[in-house]
Amino acid sequence: MDIIFLEEVDSTNSYAKQNIKKHDDKTIIVAKRQTSGRGRLQRKWIDLGEGNIFCSIILKPSSRFNEIYSNLTQYLCVILCRILEQYNITPEIKWPNDILIDGEKIAGILCETIMQGENFNGLVLGFGINLKATIENLAHIDKKATALNLKTNNNINTQDFLLSIINAFFTDYESFLSNGFISIKEEYISKSNFLGKEISVNILNNVKTGLAKDITNKGELLLVKNNDIINLTIGEII
Ligand code: BTN
Repeated sequence: MDIIFLEEVDSTNSYAKQNIKKHDDKTIIVAKRQTSGRGRLQRKWIDLGEGNIFCSIILKPSSRFNEIYSNLTQYLCVILCRILEQYNITPEIKWPNDILIDGEKIAGILCETIMQGENFNGLVLGFGINLKATIENLAHIDKKATALNLKTNNNINTQDFLLSIINAFFTDYESFLSNGFISIKEEYISKSNFLGKEISVNILNNVKTGLAKDITNKGELLLVKNNDIINLTIGEII
C-alpha cells in the first residue's frame, strides 16, 4: 500500500481522480492543507488548518462497478466511529455518512466513482476529520461542527490517528467487499441517531417527511408516512 503525502493540494479527491490511472489499488493520498476541499452536494469542505485530516483512498476492487461500492461510505463511517470511540466519546451516524458528536459534525465522507466512458477506473473515497480546531475557526463553517481536541481536551497526533483508520479500514475491507452492507448493518444501526424519529430528508430539493423506520440490507433508509414506505438511497436528513 502506497501513501502519498502532499504539503498542499486543492483537494485530495481531485488529485486522486486526476491521477487514478498512475496509482495502484489502495493508494492513499494525504495532504497537510487543502485549498478547495469538496463535500457532498457541491458543498465546500473548509480547511481548519494543519493537524486535521484530509485524505483520499484510491480503490480498484474490480474492473466493473458493483452496487456494493455505493455502501463504502457507510463502511468507512463505521470504521471512523470505531476509532473515535477509542477517545471515550460517542460518535453518532447521521444517514447516510455524516459523523456527529453531540449533534455537531466532526467528519465527512465523499466517495466518487471514476468512469471513463463505459469503463470503471475505480473509486476515490475521501474523508475529512476535524482533529484540531478552535471555537473561532469552527465559526467559519455554516453548520454546527466540532473537533476532537475540543471534545477530549487533548491534542491528537494526526499521523497516528490516520494510521489507525487505515489499518482498521483494510482489516475488514475484503470481508465487506464479499458480504456488502449486511456485514456492518448491525453496527451501523447501533450508532445511528435518527431511527425511530420523525425526520425530514432533502432529496435533490424535494423534501420528504416521515418516520425513520429502518435501514435495509442495502443501507437504504426506510421512511414511513401514512402507511406509505419510501426506500431512500440518496438524500440528506435536515
Ligand atoms: C461532506 O461531509 O460533505 C464530505 C466532506 C469530504 C471532505 C474530504 S477532505 C478530503 C477529501 N478531499 C476533498 O476535497 N473532500 C474530501
